[in-house]
Formats: sequence, C-alpha cells, structure tokens
Amino acid sequence: MKKKFSVLCLLLALVALLLPAPGYCYREKPGDVIQDNCANSGKKILITYDTEHGSTAKVAKEIFDDLCSDNFTVDLVFVENLDPAKIADYDGIVIGSPIYNGPWLPGITKLLKRHHDQIAQVPKAAFFITCTTVRDLATDDESAATYQEALKYFMNPELDKYPDIKSKTVSTKVLAGGFQYSELYPFQRFMMHLFKFPQGDFRKSAIIDAWADDLADKFK
Ligand SMILES: Cc1cc2nc3c(=O)[nH]c(=O)nc-3n(C[C@H](O)[C@H](O)[C@H](O)COP(=O)(O)O)c2cc1C
Repeated sequence: MKKKFSVLCLLLALVALLLPAPGYCYREKPGDVIQDNCANSGKKILITYDTEHGSTAKVAKEIFDDLCSDNFTVDLVFVENLDPAKIADYDGIVIGSPIYNGPWLPGITKLLKRHHDQIAQVPKAAFFITCTTVRDLATDDESAATYQEALKYFMNPELDKYPDIKSKTVSTKVLAGGFQYSELYPFQRFMMHLFKFPQGDFRKSAIIDAWADDLADKFK
C-alpha cells in the first residue's frame, strides 16, 4: 500500500512537471505575439515567425520596422494567423523561428512542410533563427565558431529539406534571442537549470538592423 502511494505520488509529480502551466504560453499571453503592417510604394514583403516566449516576435518586429523605413510594403504575421493562400502574392518572404532543443518550432516546420510549394513561388526568401548559442557575439561575426555551429546544427538541416525554397533563399541569419526562467513552463525551467542555460535578453539591435539593411538591398 505504502509502495503504491509512493508510485502514485511520483507519477503525479511527473505529470505536474511535464504539463505546461496555464499562463506560461503565448496562447495565454497574447502580448507576446506582434503583428503589424505598413503600406509604401516599394515591393511587398511578408515576415512570418513563430515564438513561444516573445523574443522572436520582437526580433521580427525590428526587421519589420527597418524594412518599412526602407519603403517596402510589409505584413508582419504570426505564423498561426497566416493564410497560406496569400503567400504567393508577395515579392519576398522572411521566415523566423526560435530554436528549442535543436529544432525550429512546429509552427514554422509545418508551414515549410505543407506549403513549400507556395513559398517557392515567392521570388526571394530569407530565414532567421533566434537562439542563445550566439549570445556572446557582440559584433556581427559570422566566422565565429558559435555562429558556424548554430548555422550547421540549427539553420542548415531544416533548409536542406527544401531545395525548391533554398534556390530562392537570398539570406540566412542566426540571431541572438533570449528567455527568462520566470516565463518558462515548469519542465522547461527544470531542464534549463539542469543544463545551466543562462537567462537574459541577448538581442543585439545593431546586428538585427544590419541584417535588415542587407535584406533591403537584396529584396530591391
Ligand atoms: C526550453 C528551451 C530550450 C532551448 N533550446 C535551445 C537550444 O537548443 N539552442 C540554443 O541555442 N538556444 C536554445 N534556447 C534559447 C531560445 O532559442 C531563445 O531564447 C529564443 O530566442 C526563444 O525565442 P522565443 O522567445 O521567441 O520563444 C532554448 C530556450 C528554451 C526556453
């Protein structure tokens, strides 16, 4: 009896650890999702992204602001709200995902899997990922070992699955994101503590803006 009770307690503790707590997810935190649009005389660009805790949304918004300032007409759309039928209407597409334990978030991997035909119809594509592997890069140093590591293990394996999109890709970028322990699901928090991941907001505006400027040149 005592043993059964212990097993039950252990199971309950595991379930509590694994279940996402309400209030920790963007579905309960709509403020983490950013959408916007600007109308100018330049080409029409779609920026779509996924996020769990908002960092990638903020990076996407900064790219959006830069491209709007560069006279593009831009739609910034959270991937869950994206109408795939409209993708082919754009002159350029920017797709962004954070890295969670290696892979991209499912919102973007599903978009690529199900709609790569439509994405490949867009003349020019660009991709960015946010992660913390490159958090210590103060300057835009793509030759740095951590940058190359992120490119090799996080960026390239996903893009390599879609040669049709890859042939349209004009730029890829690994950008630093961030997270706070207080925002994580209990299980995520446990794992991040276990692997001693440092928390913080590691975004670097200068690097994001420089990439957006480069994109503007390539999308013209
Ligand atoms: C549970 C968890 C797992 C993560 N795994 C990785 C990882 O494998 N590699 C990495 O470089 N960053 C990793 N990160 C850092 C995130 O990619 C980074 O904080 C990202 O900007 C979060 O984006 P979001 O706020 O839009 O969800 C992880 C973060 C969390 C919370």
